[in-house]
Amino acid sequence: MESPDAAKKRPRVWAVGGGKGGVGKSVITSSMAIAAARRGRRCILLDADLGGANLHTLLGLSAPRATLSDIFRRQAAGLQEILLPTAVPDLHLISGAGAMLDMANPKHAHKAKVIRQLFTLDADEIFIDLGAGTSFTVLDFFLLAREAIMVVTPTPTSVENAYFFLKAVFFRCLRQSLGAAGAAEVADRALEEKLARGVRTPRDLLVEIRRIDPAIGEAAAAKIASLSLRVVVNQMHREELPLGPQIAEACRDFFSLEVNSLGEIRHDDKVRISERKRSPVMLAFPQSAFARTIDGMVESVIESHGRSS
Ligand SMILES: Nc1ncnc2c1ncn2[C@@H]1O[C@H](COP(=O)(O)OP(=O)(O)OP(=O)(O)O)[C@@H](O)[C@H]1O
Ligand SMILES: [Mg+2]
Repeated sequence: MESPDAAKKRPRVWAVGGGKGGVGKSVITSSMAIAAARRGRRCILLDADLGGANLHTLLGLSAPRATLSDIFRRQAAGLQEILLPTAVPDLHLISGAGAMLDMANPKHAHKAKVIRQLFTLDADEIFIDLGAGTSFTVLDFFLLAREAIMVVTPTPTSVENAYFFLKAVFFRCLRQSLGAAGAAEVADRALEEKLARGVRTPRDLLVEIRRIDPAIGEAAAAKIASLSLRVVVNQMHREELPLGPQIAEACRDFFSLEVNSLGEIRHDDKVRISERKRSPVMLAFPQSAFARTIDGMVESVIESHGRSS
C-alpha cells in the first residue's frame, strides 16, 4: 500500500523570466499566483529575484520577517519555516528581500537546497519570479518549471533579449543533459566544430552533437523537446498587432524548442495605480482588463493540464 507521503502530489512549478528588466515579470507572477489562489489552488510565491526582490511590496506587505537569507545563513532549516501569509487566503510568500546583492548568484549548495525543498512544500502551485538576465540561478529555476513563461514587450530590445534568454536556456539545458550523461566534453567539441563547420543555429548544433555521438545526441534532443515554454507579450497597445504566435513560431524554428503563445496583455493604467496604492491589481481592480486577462491565462494553463499536477 502507498504511504501517505508517496501519495502526496508534487506541486506544479511555474517560473516567469524573460531576460529584459522591467517588462512586467513580477507583476505578472504575483497576479497569476493570486488568480490561482482565488481558484482554490493552494499557492506559494517564491521571490527568486535575489538582487531586487520586490514581491512583498507588490503584495502590500511591509518588511518581511523571514526571507531566503535565513536559509542561506542557516537561521532557518527549511522553506516551510519562512512562509509568509498574505492578504489572499491560500497564498503564501517566500520573500527574497534582504538576500544581499552578492547572493544574486547563491552558492550551488544553497540553490540545490532550495530547489530540493521546493518540491516537498505542501502546495498545489508554486510561482517563481525571476530577475532579469541569464544568470545560472535564473536559468536553473526556469528550467525546473513545468510552466516556464517568458515575458516579452513589443519592443525590438525586449524581443532581442528574449532570443538571448532562450539561447541561454537552450545551452544550459543542453549542458545539463550532457553533463548528466557524463558527456560535457561532447558539448564543447560540438561547439568548437560548430564554429569550424559554420553551424548557424542551436538546432544545427543538436544535429552536430548527434553526428559526434548519436546516443548522446538523441538524449539531448529528447531533453530539449521535453521543455514546454510559453511566451506572454505584455504592455501591448491597442494599435499593435498580435506578436505572441510569431515569436513562438520563430523560437520553434530556430531552437527546436516547444514554445507556445499564452497570449497578450494590454497596457493597463490600473497596474501602476494599484502599485502606487500598494495593493495588488488583482485585488484593487479585479474587473480591470489586466486582471481578467491574467485570470484567463491561469485558467487556460490549469485546465489544459488538468487540476492535479
Ligand atoms: N500590462 C501593464 N500595464 C501597465 N503597466 C505595466 C504592465 N505590466 C507591467 N507594468 C509596469 O511596468 C513596471 C515594471 O513591472 P515589473 O516590476 O513587474 O517588471 P519586472 O520585469 O519584474 O522588472 P525587473 O526586471 O526589474 O524585476 C511596473 O511599474 C509595472 O507597474
Ligand atoms: Mg521583477
